[in-house]
Amino acid sequence: MTGKVEQLGYARIETNDLDAWEAFGCDLLGFMPAERTDSQLKLRMDSYAYRLDIRKGPNEGLSALGWDCGTAEGLAAIEKRLADAGFAPVRASKEQADDRMVDEYVTVRDIDGGFDLEFFWSLRNATARFVSPTDATFVAEDFGLGHAFQAVSEEKPYADLYQDVLGFRLSDHIDFPTGGAGKFLHCNPRHHSMAIGQLSRNLGLGHLMFEVTDMDIVGRAYDKVLEGAAPLFSTLGRHTNDKMVSFYVGSPSGFGVEYGVGGITIDEDTWRPTRYSDAHYWGHQRQTARTEAETPKN
Ligand SMILES: [Fe+2]
Repeated sequence: MTGKVEQLGYARIETNDLDAWEAFGCDLLGFMPAERTDSQLKLRMDSYAYRLDIRKGPNEGLSALGWDCGTAEGLAAIEKRLADAGFAPVRASKEQADDRMVDEYVTVRDIDGGFDLEFFWSLRNATARFVSPTDATFVAEDFGLGHAFQAVSEEKPYADLYQDVLGFRLSDHIDFPTGGAGKFLHCNPRHHSMAIGQLSRNLGLGHLMFEVTDMDIVGRAYDKVLEGAAPLFSTLGRHTNDKMVSFYVGSPSGFGVEYGVGGITIDEDTWRPTRYSDAHYWGHQRQTARTEAETPKN
């Protein structure tokens, strides 16, 4: 397949409370503040100019996932397949691309709605060195910013979009004991960059996952959450499929953030998908009653 999505490049978030996001993103998770105005906060986790683009506005939550298509040719191939599949991609203007700090991008609406999917190439690199305020080193760069888990109304259209149109490959499935199943998809060696679950829960983004290299960074953040820095959604635990040790915390915008260490990587030549009967070997006990999105499953 010519032209495949290569990584989760950025997430754009709308919020009423930029200060809360700055404290959550920087003091708790260890992102580096790259730019802060009255209306916008950009956060870095690696050499790129930003990975989270948080803007002031009334629609609290995820605005867009930005998927990196690698090259102009890769983007053009994906744009054509999106059009052929009926998604009617809209090509951005030069000013819009400058705003995203990319060379070109196209936008489609997510199948269930609620946010946009943006497909780009050439996210700008930063000049200043990345320095984390909590001494965190993120697993990012070519692996992308992490992964997204989305509760969807129907699995098949999403599988068709991500696998047939965007070129993701199947990592594995989890049959959740509470009902429903999750499909985990990769586009680079990270075990999954996108996961979809057809669950009888509220639709939309369940969580974004950020991975660091050091268990102590996860543990220190967990201590801060236990001390009240942000609502704990699920206790520390280990996932079956990607083997990550992580906990889940509520972001200022309501959706979850999984913060973890030790996720496995996929060798495309030898990987064989499998199926799990649960998402956790231990832990990940759900804490607060939630109204938003789904229970963090992975
Ligand atoms: Fe996850």
